[in-house]
Amino acid sequence: MGIIGSPRIGGNTDTLVNAILSSIQNNGVSIETVYLDEMNISHCKACNHCQMDGECIHHDDMQDIVTLMERSDVWVLGTPIYWWGTTAQMKTFVDRWYGIRQSIFQDKKLLLVITMGGHDPYYSRHVVGMFEDICKYLGIEFLGSLIAPGMKNIESAKQTTSLIERAEKIGAIIMPTGGRINDIIKTQNIDRHCLLE
Ligand SMILES: Cc1cc2nc3c(=O)[nH]c(=O)nc-3n(C[C@H](O)[C@H](O)[C@H](O)COP(=O)(O)O)c2cc1C
Repeated sequence: MGIIGSPRIGGNTDTLVNAILSSIQNNGVSIETVYLDEMNISHCKACNHCQMDGECIHHDDMQDIVTLMERSDVWVLGTPIYWWGTTAQMKTFVDRWYGIRQSIFQDKKLLLVITMGGHDPYYSRHVVGMFEDICKYLGIEFLGSLIAPGMKNIESAKQTTSLIERAEKIGAIIMPTGGRINDIIKTQNIDRHCLLE
């Protein structure tokens, strides 16, 4: 499933996540896409209710998203860089993982798509590090990151054929047969960080 943290539908992040997902879908695998900006996701209040009673105090769209996450083998998370970090939408969403039943994260795989206006992929280091650490902590398998610098305008990703092709290739590698991706990822040697200029 794709989880898009940019508020711009049809923008760079959306374009790249969807290029990956379309490629996955071409192999007969069903896909879902969630646009966080369109969802009602409340901020974590740090009340610890989830830790004590196993249930979050918020009753919002997060429950529906978690149901989709449970059904999906691979989560393709996309966020633009905002001030060297993720968008607020993505951070709010990830903060709410605090209240999710931990077993949901087992056997899940996460691929990160990062877009940015600047030309130096180094600007994405905090976001890559954040997700690497989260994945390690929660037992999610971190597949790697597609990092797209130089996305100066909303059409930049669409106008960069090599980038779209790279995204499609990643989608094809992830799900060549619709089967388990563990072995495939390892044998195809996907770049851990697919830095693109
Ligand atoms: C509030 C805001 C903060 C941003 N901060 C950065 C930044 O720190 N570094 C950078 O390279 N680009 C930054 N950008 C540019 C976006 O990362 C870039 O335009 C991205 O491609 C937008 O993705 P989208 O088309 O999916 O919305 C910022 C954009 C906005 C709106």
